[in-house]
Amino acid sequence: MTTGAMADAGGIISTGSSEIDKKLGGGIPVGSLVLLEGQSDSGKSVVSQHFTHGSLNTRMSAAYYTTENTVKSLMTQMASLNLDVTDYFLCDRLRVYPLEMSSTKENDTKEAFRVLLDHFDSLPVRFKLTIVDSLTGLVSHSDDRAIIDFFASCKQLCDRGRTIIAVVHSYAFDDRMLIRIRSLCDAHLVLKVDQVGERLIKIMEVAKVRNADQSTGNIISFDVEPGMGMKIIPISKAKA
Ligand SMILES: Nc1ncnc2c1ncn2[C@@H]1O[C@H](COP(=O)(O)OP(=O)(O)OP(=O)(O)O)[C@@H](O)[C@H]1O
Ligand SMILES: [Mg+2]
Repeated sequence: MTTGAMADAGGIISTGSSEIDKKLGGGIPVGSLVLLEGQSDSGKSVVSQHFTHGSLNTRMSAAYYTTENTVKSLMTQMASLNLDVTDYFLCDRLRVYPLEMSSTKENDTKEAFRVLLDHFDSLPVRFKLTIVDSLTGLVSHSDDRAIIDFFASCKQLCDRGRTIIAVVHSYAFDDRMLIRIRSLCDAHLVLKVDQVGERLIKIMEVAKVRNADQSTGNIISFDVEPGMGMKIIPISKAKA
């Protein structure tokens, strides 16, 4: 499929910031399977919440599966980043599904993955964006085969018009698995925390975006500010 056909088919998932979208090659094309990977506290949830807000603001509906929040704590968290989505939640444009993973045992992960996939598939077509924050618990209890099958099935859903953002902690995959999962994904965003002088900043590396308008490999350095959300730090300033 060409870039043009992809864009015509369903547009892009925006972060809500044109500056950040530009670094993503224009935004994540609808129909992408996205791996959003990073260490603890690197901003995975904040970035996911920006994508959620961005897609809701461009008339899509979004489903947010979370192992980290309740509905209430997610609403509060997003409002504190100037990403208030309460109205979207109330009119069923946003659905939030808290996930309980703690009881997942080794042999149950296949079943858990299947339940999750069936649930994704059962969402009305208007739910263009699906986010799972995070898959770390499930992935760390699974064998490689089950994980690869899950991502391959996600890819099939994406080929039928969904956009899925799979959030994982970097430690969940070893190098070999990361290469295999990455090749199944259309986009791969890597988040890190870096010390610049006295200051800790967050870095997002756009490792891959298939069908993006521009070349990738971009680096975005940012901070998370109360009442504002992600704020880009110009590299020169970050180094100063
Ligand atoms: N409402 C907020 N106001 C200010 N800072 C915030 C707010 N929400 C999150 N942050 C900061 O943003 C940073 C990234 O948080 P985030 O929860 O996105 O990380 P994460 O990668 O999802 O971490 P984890 O691996 O624990 O899930 C943290 O340092 C956090 O303190
Ligand atoms: Mg998180």
